Amino acid sequence: MPSGGPGAAGPPWSSGVRRRADGEVEVAGVTAAALAAEHGTPAYVLDEADFRARARAYREAFEAAFAEVGAGLDVYYAGKALLTIGVARWARSEGLRVDTASGGELAVALRAGVPGSEIGLHGNNKSDEEILTALDTGVGRIIVDSLAEVERVADLADRRGVVAPVMVRVTTGVHAGGHEYISTAHEDQKFGLSVAPAPDGGTSPALVALEAVVDRASLHLLGIHSHIGSQILDPSGFEAAARVVLQLRADLARRTGALVEEVDLGGGYGIAYLPGEETLEPGPVARDVAAAVAAVCAELGTALPRFSVEPGRAIVGPAGLTLYTVGTVKPVTVADDDGEFTRLYVSVDGGMSDNIRPALYGADYHAEVVGRASDAAPVLARVVGKHCESGDIVVHQVMLPGDVRAGDLLAVAATGAYGRSMASNYNGLTRPPVVAVADGASRVLVRRETLDDLLALDQG
Ligand code: LLP
Repeated sequence: MPSGGPGAAGPPWSSGVRRRADGEVEVAGVTAAALAAEHGTPAYVLDEADFRARARAYREAFEAAFAEVGAGLDVYYAGKALLTIGVARWARSEGLRVDTASGGELAVALRAGVPGSEIGLHGNNKSDEEILTALDTGVGRIIVDSLAEVERVADLADRRGVVAPVMVRVTTGVHAGGHEYISTAHEDQKFGLSVAPAPDGGTSPALVALEAVVDRASLHLLGIHSHIGSQILDPSGFEAAARVVLQLRADLARRTGALVEEVDLGGGYGIAYLPGEETLEPGPVARDVAAAVAAVCAELGTALPRFSVEPGRAIVGPAGLTLYTVGTVKPVTVADDDGEFTRLYVSVDGGMSDNIRPALYGADYHAEVVGRASDAAPVLARVVGKHCESGDIVVHQVMLPGDVRAGDLLAVAATGAYGRSMASNYNGLTRPPVVAVADGASRVLVRRETLDDLLALDQG
């Protein structure tokens, strides 16, 4: 086994995961077997204390580092990583605000009791209905993503007789993150407005949009937003992007007299998925970015704005694991340049419908047998799902005890982010429940889907 097991301190397991002397693994005092017996498998299991500790750590680290240079800061939990009513309440009770990416996420945050003023609404193609809901519920910031949207939000705000607080999402040209599909600030993609001059050398699309916001009486230009990507492990991108955004803010002030009061630096803080893998600690990143923005504002001679950040994965990712039951186990002989070897294919009762990340991004995960101890020699295994696709892989490569067998409970670490939130019903599978564990007890945050749920949508 490549790690000391879930009992080892630190990532990729949540802090409440321990392997007991009898070999069983527990989460916050509840054994994997008890969780499986009560909730069935597959199940997403969330360690509430771990989530709260990470939320607190991000808020405290960023608040302190920015206070040190004289700037205020808010942390928005990026709900796209995983948003349920319970999770939104945890985030809020730890002093975080909530960032939503659609009317659906907005509805969950509102249902959780998060005040509109503490919610941000993103989206590169918001519907009128989504914008109107945001206006009607007093959403604190609508992050506009195109020039057309500036006009649309302004018109809808006019219609409602309100002034909409908006931020303009810009692309800084800083390219960061784990995979092309999750890197969002390079030029050839759909998000935001470029800070680069127009092809004819004219005003950048970002400045054009910012000036359009300034011109509309029904819009209040709250700030500038930049999100550079996701699963970022090199923090220098955040500093580079912040520099570009602050320069843009100064340019806008020179042209219009409007010095925007807020700058949002987005999310993207990377986590460890495998034992021994690197992770970003909020303290050092926050200090580096705070020092950089202070230096840039001093150079530019502009007052510091208020800042915000939007971590999602870094808060909920490591707090979650997925519990599966092993079914078919099949040795397969494979050959590569070094000759033939055996790979043990271990099929579990879920797969790409509950975690699309390995298939979509080639993402790696770590798994262990968690229902019992085993002295069997470890063998090279691949954990696969039950879907009718050979790309239905849960864990590409992991050492599992050679006696792994049907009925074993298997846990996959660090699945809290972008697992349930990207889940599907492919092959007619029902989506697993989200179960929270704290202080030796578990409770269901989102119940398991049933076949009746599936059939209820089908109008025949
Ligand atoms: N803010 C904005 C504007 C974003 O677009 C995102 C993520 C975040 C914050 C949160 O990023 P985080 O801190 O979680 O990295 N499905 C992909 C990730 C897509 C991220 C999209 N935007 C994955 O599974 O890796």
